[in-house]
Amino acid sequence: MRRAYAPYSKFPVGVAGLVDDGRVVTGCNVENAGYGVALCAECGMVSELVATGGGRLVAVYCVGADGQPLMPCGRCRQLLWEHGGPACLLQTPKGVLPMTEVLPQAFGREDLDELAGTAPTEE
Ligand code: THU
Repeated sequence: MRRAYAPYSKFPVGVAGLVDDGRVVTGCNVENAGYGVALCAECGMVSELVATGGGRLVAVYCVGADGQPLMPCGRCRQLLWEHGGPACLLQTPKGVLPMTEVLPQAFGREDLDELAGTAPTEE
């Protein structure tokens, strides 16, 4: 969070994720003069996850400037679902919750199978 680049919103965000092999991946938000181009902290974390070998997120903690738990935005909940799945745990202001409660009835890769008949390639 202290490394965030947030000169426009002045709303720094930091996130850390525990990976199923024991790694810890992190991210911070990176804003842009083109406001809509801002990257959320979770985007950076997921990028590090993939770039350092992949794996599954098992637990995630996102914080704002006060160091308190911050709920990921909707887009980032979708990112966490893709790389952590239903069992991934998130620290929330209301305690630790599984992703099934953070993003109920989530859209995921299984839906692509069922609806489009396009099986995702195994990674
Ligand atoms: N932000 C994140 O980094 N993650 C979230 O889940 C919510 C929002 C950032 C984006 C922007 O830089 C700032 O917080 C204000 O929206």
